[in-house]
Amino acid sequence: MGLEDGYFRTVNYLRISITDKCNLRCIYCMPAEGIKLKAHEELLRFEELTELVKVAAELGVTKVRLTGGEPLVRKNMVSFVEAIAQVPGIDDIALTTNGVLLPKLGPALKQAGLKRVNVSLDSLQPARFRWITRVGEWIDTWAGIETALELGFDPVKINMVVIRGVNDDEILDFVDLTYRYPLHVRFIEFMPIGTSDGWAQKRLVPYAEIKEIIEKRVELIPVKSVKGNGPAKYYQLPGTKGTVGFISPITNHFCQHCNRLRLTAEGKLRPCLHSSWEIDLKASLRAGASREQLAELFREAIRRKPQHHTMSDDGWQDQPRMMYQIGG
Ligand code: 5AD
Ligand code: SF4
Repeated sequence: MGLEDGYFRTVNYLRISITDKCNLRCIYCMPAEGIKLKAHEELLRFEELTELVKVAAELGVTKVRLTGGEPLVRKNMVSFVEAIAQVPGIDDIALTTNGVLLPKLGPALKQAGLKRVNVSLDSLQPARFRWITRVGEWIDTWAGIETALELGFDPVKINMVVIRGVNDDEILDFVDLTYRYPLHVRFIEFMPIGTSDGWAQKRLVPYAEIKEIIEKRVELIPVKSVKGNGPAKYYQLPGTKGTVGFISPITNHFCQHCNRLRLTAEGKLRPCLHSSWEIDLKASLRAGASREQLAELFREAIRRKPQHHTMSDDGWQDQPRMMYQIGG
């Protein structure tokens, strides 16, 4: 199932950023002062998004992930999840969240048909968590993770972006979590996105280095992938309930397995996180495009998927959009 692109990759996965707002202000993702409020009509309405999910599903997309900003800050998220869960062909709906609103919304989301959650958590130390997120309370995100486990979302994954000099001393503490909880901790290489001052360029901890830090202490046993469709490589440690995974967009890009398209909150369809080329689906939708015309735009985006990104190449030009604007 799914449409093939020019490099024999089948696209069956759509990531939708449903808002660029967030209730946190992570240093690498958002400007400190927050973001300019968008006029309501700049965002795709949920009915429009549902229509696009139907088009995508007819082309073979089976999995949808909702991202942001922070998707849970958008009103009526629960009914939106319910709507897309009913689209024929969509069999997997996942969410990437900072967890803060999961205690409040988790039960309803589960009932609406949400299957899986990834929670971003970059530190286990409350003071540091506050520094990284500028405004966050560690305990709020942790409560969200506990809620996700209690509700039986499976799997519950933790995204930990490893940033040199900021949280790279916590790698083993995150590994420890997998002994105590059935959590799948993914260490993510920090990507120099949306920053131009050089701060980010020095912060990368290559995946091989992260792995080595862990392997000095414990044995890593490769396991088959954890349910989902991401690019992580997973390992189990003797006696753990969860797993440890690595996502290495920089030193070992996984573009050859890329199965996704991205839709920004303003309705731009992007074939790749790192390409600046995008198609304005919102304009077409609002100009009255038919389903078939929209499908053709999806096909074009798939045809335009680049073979790979160039972030690790010399002379990589940082793109102007920050992460909250693209949706992780
Ligand atoms: N590099 C790596 N990961 C990032 N994320 C956000 N910005 C970056 C970056 N520059 C992560 C978030 C979240 C996921 C959606 O993407 O921490 O877990
Ligand atoms: Fe919000 Fe996630 Fe960006 Fe942090 S990384 S500001 S939690 S969207």
